[in-house]
Amino acid sequence: MDEPREPSLQQRREQSEDVGRNRTDNPTLGDLIAARFGRRAWLKGALAVTAIGASLGPLALAAARQAKAATPSFDFDEVAATVDENHHVAPGYQANLLIRWGDPVLPGAPAFDPMNQTAAAQAQQFGYNNDFIGYFPLNGAADRGLLCVNHEYTNEELMFPGMGGPQEEDAKFARLTKELAAVEMMAHGGSVVEIAQAGGAWQVVQDSRYARRITAETPMLLTGPAAGHARLQTKADPNGTKVLGMLNNCGGGTTPWGTWLSAEENFHGYFWGELAEDHPEHANFKRYGVPANWYNWGAYHDRFDVAKEPNEANRFGWMVEIDPMDPTATPKKRTALGRFKHEGGETFLNRDGRVVVYMGDDERFDYIYRFVTAKAYDPDNRAANLDLLDEGTLAVAKFSEDGSLEWLPLVHGEGPLTEANGFKSQADVLIATRLAADLLGATKMDRPEDVQANPKTGKVYAMLTNNTKRTAEQVDPANPRPENAFGHIVEMTPPDADHAAANYTWEILVQCGDPAIAEVRAMWNPATSQDGWFGMPDNCAIDRQGRLWIATDGNSPKGTGRADGIWALETEGAARGTAKRFFQVPVGAEMCGPQFTPDGQTMFVAVQHPGEEDAEGNPGSFENPPTRWPDFDPAMPVRPAVVVITKAGGGAIA
Ligand code: FEO
Ligand code: CA
Ligand code: CA
Repeated sequence: MDEPREPSLQQRREQSEDVGRNRTDNPTLGDLIAARFGRRAWLKGALAVTAIGASLGPLALAAARQAKAATPSFDFDEVAATVDENHHVAPGYQANLLIRWGDPVLPGAPAFDPMNQTAAAQAQQFGYNNDFIGYFPLNGAADRGLLCVNHEYTNEELMFPGMGGPQEEDAKFARLTKELAAVEMMAHGGSVVEIAQAGGAWQVVQDSRYARRITAETPMLLTGPAAGHARLQTKADPNGTKVLGMLNNCGGGTTPWGTWLSAEENFHGYFWGELAEDHPEHANFKRYGVPANWYNWGAYHDRFDVAKEPNEANRFGWMVEIDPMDPTATPKKRTALGRFKHEGGETFLNRDGRVVVYMGDDERFDYIYRFVTAKAYDPDNRAANLDLLDEGTLAVAKFSEDGSLEWLPLVHGEGPLTEANGFKSQADVLIATRLAADLLGATKMDRPEDVQANPKTGKVYAMLTNNTKRTAEQVDPANPRPENAFGHIVEMTPPDADHAAANYTWEILVQCGDPAIAEVRAMWNPATSQDGWFGMPDNCAIDRQGRLWIATDGNSPKGTGRADGIWALETEGAARGTAKRFFQVPVGAEMCGPQFTPDGQTMFVAVQHPGEEDAEGNPGSFENPPTRWPDFDPAMPVRPAVVVITKAGGGAIA
């Protein structure tokens, strides 16, 4: 029998998300799954249910064969689903290291010295836990561009000597000195690096004029309807417009005008202290889980202490827009896009020229959001687009049993969003977006992660990663499995590809997990192989042919018998619902990115927190990691890194 173990800090963080902060009683729609699948998924024949409907499989297959493939199928041989110390890519492809935690970013940055880390060095080096990757071609070149990478969080037990092993949280914090906390703060944020292809291989361009590090102390502006509001004012910033840093930037997106959207996710973890009953933001902070005391920065910086600086936490949880082309441009927190645990911010250029941003709020029972700009994008005037995201309409999704989806606008004065309910202005609606969405009756989802529109088909894909806390009484058609350990993917279709429309339709594309275990109730196309199925979809990308690629977070030897990685998933024609395994991360890592170059010949992926745990689930440490990827040097700790995947001999991926 396994010995009971102290949970790792990461596990504590995960458990802290179990609070279930959405305590509203938005109506669940009852167990209508059978009826729903009967009418919609089955008769359309596009999806076969392998587990619950083995006997119906041939029926679905026959119907599916009649469908025409709208996009070419993925042409690669799968990599075997296993787990070990290294990464693996499908045969015929190469996966090379591009940049690691500690590598120089700014000109003159010192070499990585793991035993003598300083905040000053880290501020010039590539940060920790690379997540979203944005790629921006330079001067239209196919072989030169800027890579913008989020650094979501830090693992002190893997970064610093003497922090691992079972111990009381207080003891760990006692060893996290002010200098180490400062290293952590500099390892957060993001990096901009110039990269170029030479002799077929991508490399970081040293001493680039675009090189930039963004950290937990980089000055930023709050812009849009909530900027300057009293609830955003602090002692250091009485005007409520200037913030230091961005925190827990997870997913993101790119805009048609070439800026980087970086999404602040679990910001609550950085706030410190006890939330007093008479705290002015008590209800708001409770709904967001502030403070969660994951980091001890509040011991050294009063702004992270909710008692000493009651409004600082209102200045995090936003979508940050950064112009990578101008290293001196101040990042802007776009308050019009709402405040929640933003997973990503993928954009879609609507046919009327307005820009649409799709966003997930990654917590159990939280919501999917959409923002539509008020004004249209001007392809001939970049400057005119740079503040487009300050004006527009934020809306939250309500899924109905009949397969319709309604976008409910979060507009002050409309419906329940009035002073009587605590919303005196649009700023109040945006600062407490979750409370406003609760009142509108939005559908509580199974942890919405990336939400991505496919420019070829106009369909939108929402990754719902898992929700083991959903009970049988809480299932609804869009979240049909209780104790949903493996997640699912919802496909949303706007009418006539109008992404500003108030009403869409929706389908479940796949229900993840092992199709061989009936109780899991997985739904895949039966053509999916034993290596091809996955759990816990997280980030995703669409390739230039309009095909869906998915990165996962949470597969493990004990859970799904496989490491995280990249899977390709068919969405059209007879193959719809077929998944294929393309890339595998080293043990303990999750997979982030992915991002393609516009020519489809390069895929960038981010290997995040490698070595965080071993194949048995035991936490790794600086001294004793389960892998020393990517250096495999006993003098080097395990390091998060960006990997670049290309086809051997060149050509489009798959
Ligand atoms: Fe940072 Fe929702 O993953
Ligand atoms: Ca994520
Ligand atoms: Ca994405």
